[in-house]
Amino acid sequence: MNLRIRPCADEDELRASMSSIWHYFGLPPTPEAVGNFMAMGGPQRALIAQADGALAGGCTAFPFEVTTPGGRVKAAGVTMVGVQPTHRRRGVLSAMMKRQLSDMRDRGEPVAYLWASEERIYGRFGYGLAGLAGDVEISRDRADFFSKEAAIGRVNLTPLAQALAPVREIYERVAATRPGMFTRSEEWWKRRILVDLSWQRAGGGELVCAVLEIDGRPQAYALYRFDAKWERSIPAGVVRVVECMGVSPVATRSIWRYLLDLDWCATIRAGFLPTDHPLFLLSAEPRRLRPTFRDGCFLRLVDVASSLAARAYGPGEIVIEIADALFADNAGRWIVSNGGAKRTERAPDLVCDVSSLASAYLGGFSWRQLVASSRAKAADDAAVVRADRVFERHDAPWAPEIF
Ligand SMILES: CC(C)(COP(=O)(O)OP(=O)(O)OC[C@H]1O[C@@H](n2cnc3c(N)ncnc32)[C@H](O)[C@@H]1OP(=O)(O)O)[C@@H](O)C(=O)NCCC(=O)NCCS
Repeated sequence: MNLRIRPCADEDELRASMSSIWHYFGLPPTPEAVGNFMAMGGPQRALIAQADGALAGGCTAFPFEVTTPGGRVKAAGVTMVGVQPTHRRRGVLSAMMKRQLSDMRDRGEPVAYLWASEERIYGRFGYGLAGLAGDVEISRDRADFFSKEAAIGRVNLTPLAQALAPVREIYERVAATRPGMFTRSEEWWKRRILVDLSWQRAGGGELVCAVLEIDGRPQAYALYRFDAKWERSIPAGVVRVVECMGVSPVATRSIWRYLLDLDWCATIRAGFLPTDHPLFLLSAEPRRLRPTFRDGCFLRLVDVASSLAARAYGPGEIVIEIADALFADNAGRWIVSNGGAKRTERAPDLVCDVSSLASAYLGGFSWRQLVASSRAKAADDAAVVRADRVFERHDAPWAPEIF
């Protein structure tokens, strides 16, 4: 098989590249989807794989800036990865991933970030699980908070066409410090978030935007759909929360109170929540949230030195010996401290694959967890304690949407 992988030249090639994964969606790429990728990345960031001249696969990557603990890093948001059913398990994905990672290095994107359709696909390319994502399903009649303290502020139902300014400001304030969140361009907001397409409705209600103002300033928002339903004349509606953000504890508490009190609703569903979401402790009956967690985003440190320099650290320093099967200049011993990462010959405190370093990077997992699960080896227990002090964690990573 003569395999050739190259950037797409134009919209037609981008459509062809996307058609590999769209095969598994059961239809060709819609004009709207192709238009989105043209506007939010363009053909040049997408790769097309051809085998003996025939289409074999494709992938692309959005240009992101992802928040790290104490910083931000340029990142490639990998997406639309697909191999034609006629060419699977012949190394097409492997070749595309190597090319895509090496393109990221050339573009100066030190980190790659993605949602995996299946957990076992990306580890071999150096990706590690960056955090967990939680779903909740709450019965409205068991949705009390631990405290009767009243919600404050005023909620305004805001037409989508007028929602961009307030919603974007709130999101950016939250995303500035929450690891795992990424900046959204105006195109992103208009084409992906503040838009109400029939497939997103999935037969249910329209997209509603509620903005909470406190002291005349937008401080929280909820994007949700109300799926109306009645059973034996009793309301059985479902509120599907698409996204809910608040800039402060009181704003978060108040907007969630609004959602949980909506009339004619029996169940409130929300997803993509971080492990430390305030709802878990706000609730009077946390088990009634029926939380379930699964693997969230995966991350790859494409350039170890630059990515480690793009976050802050706690006191002290730690020597980590990294293995990287794809990029020799990432491998070896690094001394990590608040100044970033430098080469060293000192004996390592920790030894691990670059994928495990990725799991520690955003703070989704502690070194203690990585050592306990045999994903890293430590010289001794004191090294683990020191490593967790250096890789200080505050907020759990949050990737609030599939991309
Ligand atoms: C997943 C997919 C991209 C793999 O492409 P591929 O060209 O068949 O992959 P490769 O031949 O390069 O496989 C590389 C290795 O990964 C393994 N692998 C590939 N897909 C896998 C999967 N879904 N689960 C487990 N292992 C997988 C292969 O077995 C192979 O292992 P080996 O080197 O030990 O033999 C392809 O099957 C596909 O398009 N699936 C549907 C769409 C999809 O899930 N895309 C990913 C979106 S995030």
